[in-house]
Amino acid sequence: MGRKQYWRMDELESARFRIYALEDGAIRAQALAFCLRIGLFDRLEEGALDSGEIGDAFDLSPRVVPSLLAFLASQGPIERGLDGRFGNTQAASVFLVRTSPRYVGGRGLLFQGFYDAIAHLPESLATGKPWTPAGQHDMFGGFGPEEQAWFAEGMFANAVHGARWLLEQVDFRSGRRLLDVGGSTGGYTLSILEAVPALQATIFDLPAVRDLAEQRIRASAASDRVSFVPGSFFTDPLPKGHDMLLLSSVLHDWGDGDCERILKRCFEALEPGGTVVVTEPMLREDYSGPDHPAASGLTMVVLGGENRMPNRICELLESAGFGACWQSEVGAQNSVVTGKKPG
Ligand SMILES: C[S@@+](CC[C@H](N)C(=O)[O-])C[C@H]1O[C@@H](n2cnc3c(N)ncnc32)[C@H](O)[C@@H]1O
Repeated sequence: MGRKQYWRMDELESARFRIYALEDGAIRAQALAFCLRIGLFDRLEEGALDSGEIGDAFDLSPRVVPSLLAFLASQGPIERGLDGRFGNTQAASVFLVRTSPRYVGGRGLLFQGFYDAIAHLPESLATGKPWTPAGQHDMFGGFGPEEQAWFAEGMFANAVHGARWLLEQVDFRSGRRLLDVGGSTGGYTLSILEAVPALQATIFDLPAVRDLAEQRIRASAASDRVSFVPGSFFTDPLPKGHDMLLLSSVLHDWGDGDCERILKRCFEALEPGGTVVVTEPMLREDYSGPDHPAASGLTMVVLGGENRMPNRICELLESAGFGACWQSEVGAQNSVVTGKKPG
């Protein structure tokens, strides 16, 4: 253990406020989710408003408005102009306005759906068990149509950014047909197809995802190159005839035993010589983060999965039969590990 680093008084004071932010993170998340839900950023994108106009537009009590606006202005999504009106900052215009192609608000709403689960994190940390007996089997099996929609929207928001980064790491132009296992509504597949015009794709996910996925597929410029096949990767064989297979934020949902079952089916389905691509939040081998994968690892603790280190993903791929394991640098959102099915 190295010597403890001593901080200047001002550094220590800012560390105190970072600790405060850790302590009251739940209230910050709830406030942002409320603003997303009422469409505050969508409204401000049409034009700046003063505090009274914001109160009237959303029927907010005058007791609430100053705290809410000061919170948003202090955290970065809105700013107050010289005329006293509040408008979106560029960050809100790009990431929190629903019509923006880089919208990530769905993720905030996704987390709202996890609050019951998150309340059980202390028990999960203490016992190592998920908050429901069968973990993710309970979650994915128990979604009603509304929950399915908010989950899919949250994943789509994340996937748009994940796909942009993934395309810089993996050459999808070397493939002919991509199978996106647990591909949800196609956030990854549709972005990849738009970037790689010669590629065809199949999205495989639970039957309950089908309608939502087909809506997204119809709206995409790549709609004639993708189809959706419903099924479960625990009980159904995966579609054949693919030389690339993507598992994006799928393995981290599950414990090792379930990952082995999923990877066995992936190995069986992929063509000889084909490439499996695993992308999801991964932890650095030296435990130093990064911030997002480390925090999302806690969500996986309570839900029943696990954010792993790249070497562990390689081990899982190798025990399923894949070889030639390659790993990217550990990234701020996701990392990628690829393997090859022997030819
Ligand atoms: C965390 S999401 C990842 C979605 C997408 N790959 C992405 O990165 O945006 C996990 C996906 O696995 C799907 N899934 C869960 N259990 C499944 C099963 N037994 N068979 C097929 N898909 C399943 C869910 O419906 C969901 O779309």
